[in-house]
Amino acid sequence: MHSLVSDWQLLADLSFADLILWIPLKDGSGWIAVAQMRPTTGPTVYHDDIVGMIAARGERVLLEIAWDERRICREGDPDWSSGVPVREETIPVRRADHFLGVIQRSTNLSSARTPSRLELTYLQSASDLAQMVAEGRFPFSGAEPILVRSPRVGDGLLRLDRAGRVTYASPNALSAYRRLGLNADLVGAELGRTTATLCYRDEPINENLMIVASGREPRETEVESGGTVVQLRAIPLVVGGGRIGALVLIRDVTELRRRERELMTKDATIREIHHRVKNNLQTVAALLRLQARRLQVPEGREALEEAVRRVGSIAIVHETLSHTPEEQVDFDDIADRVIAMTGEVAAPEAQVVPRRIGAFGVLRSEIATPLAMVLTELLQNAVQHGLAHRPGKLQVIVSRGAERLDVIVSDDGTGLPEGFDLDSSTSLGLQIVRTLVVGELSGRLTIEPRQGGGTEVTLGIPLPAV
Ligand SMILES: Nc1ncnc2c1ncn2[C@@H]1O[C@H](COP(=O)(O)OP(=O)(O)OP(=O)(O)O)[C@@H](O)[C@H]1O
Ligand SMILES: [Mg+2]
Repeated sequence: MHSLVSDWQLLADLSFADLILWIPLKDGSGWIAVAQMRPTTGPTVYHDDIVGMIAARGERVLLEIAWDERRICREGDPDWSSGVPVREETIPVRRADHFLGVIQRSTNLSSARTPSRLELTYLQSASDLAQMVAEGRFPFSGAEPILVRSPRVGDGLLRLDRAGRVTYASPNALSAYRRLGLNADLVGAELGRTTATLCYRDEPINENLMIVASGREPRETEVESGGTVVQLRAIPLVVGGGRIGALVLIRDVTELRRRERELMTKDATIREIHHRVKNNLQTVAALLRLQARRLQVPEGREALEEAVRRVGSIAIVHETLSHTPEEQVDFDDIADRVIAMTGEVAAPEAQVVPRRIGAFGVLRSEIATPLAMVLTELLQNAVQHGLAHRPGKLQVIVSRGAERLDVIVSDDGTGLPEGFDLDSSTSLGLQIVRTLVVGELSGRLTIEPRQGGGTEVTLGIPLPAV
């Protein structure tokens, strides 16, 4: 039933009619309408929602006949009871050996004109499909329910005969083929070969295309030529046990695909750039590490090793960004890695196990990169100065509000040296922190002795409204 309802727009459109799916009530007292579809090709009969409506047994004779006699049932004269002439028809729904319900097909005849070739082809195809529903051949068994929008009747329709030759081409279908480069007539042409010649001039025959374009199996494919992309969907018509031909729905998806491709390449490019930046930073870090190993002067070596860590923490941000399609990262991930890195460089006798309390959540990369850097410096200071020679607690406490992020890095170590003043401090670490927090992030920064001993660094960073 679900696969029927996911695909019966086709039947409604070809019929220019409303469809209502009725299933019998368990207790046999009547019918309930479980689904409804209006045509996009013509006027509807039902302006109201029918789903959920109950019809008592005997109230709708056509339903009973289709159900009891297992056949399509058509009313002779139009029904005028709703004020417009409506032709009613009922189609039993069959799946394997079971009959599941009845489709009521109602055509609003008020706008019926002398039928054109297009209308005649549609109606003939509709009646073939209806026959297939009654015989349990449509929707196709095993076919995935159609989830993405596949072509509709109004997008373009071709009807093929048994040999795969086009017997009718709707104006839209013809236009699509013109855009693919067809100069000759489509009617009378063998669709498979014609399409292959247009789209795969110098390439080996595409098997899937040949199957779709010959209408032999219910499948979809996409072809491209001269910058035009066209989606094809084949619906084999199998009536009375024999293949009588096929419908091929055609949709020009050039614009759609172009936009998708653009989006995809933009995302992929950004991710690739982050990946390369990360690689380059890791190379820089490796070079510095090599140089540090060669240095005899301990101070020089320490300085280089610290540079390695600074570069490393930026690389972490780029690595994380290279995995996400957006320019946003889950900063908790990054913070935890930076924190773990600090734990590793702490003096072994200090036994510092840094911890994060609270969550940063998702941050934009403009904030994440400097913040990762800042965090590295502050944690580094805590293990290098505060907790250099004794065990202690090191915590990163985060609280995130709608418009600001508050972060406290606190240690219970030896505390700041006497006469310490942030503004007059000229060492590099805190200068970096100040520049990034105040300059780059427009935030606030304080470093104070912690109550109960140690040091507490407080950051207040405004978050831009999303
Ligand atoms: N958590 C802390 N506990 C104790 N003292 C600290 C702490 N953080 C900073 N300090 C003091 O502030 C000074 C300046 O820190 P800053 O990070 O700017 O320089 P540094 O760590 O000495 O060198 P680097 O430029 O390599 O970071 C440190 O030398 C230290 O005396
Ligand atoms: Mg420092």
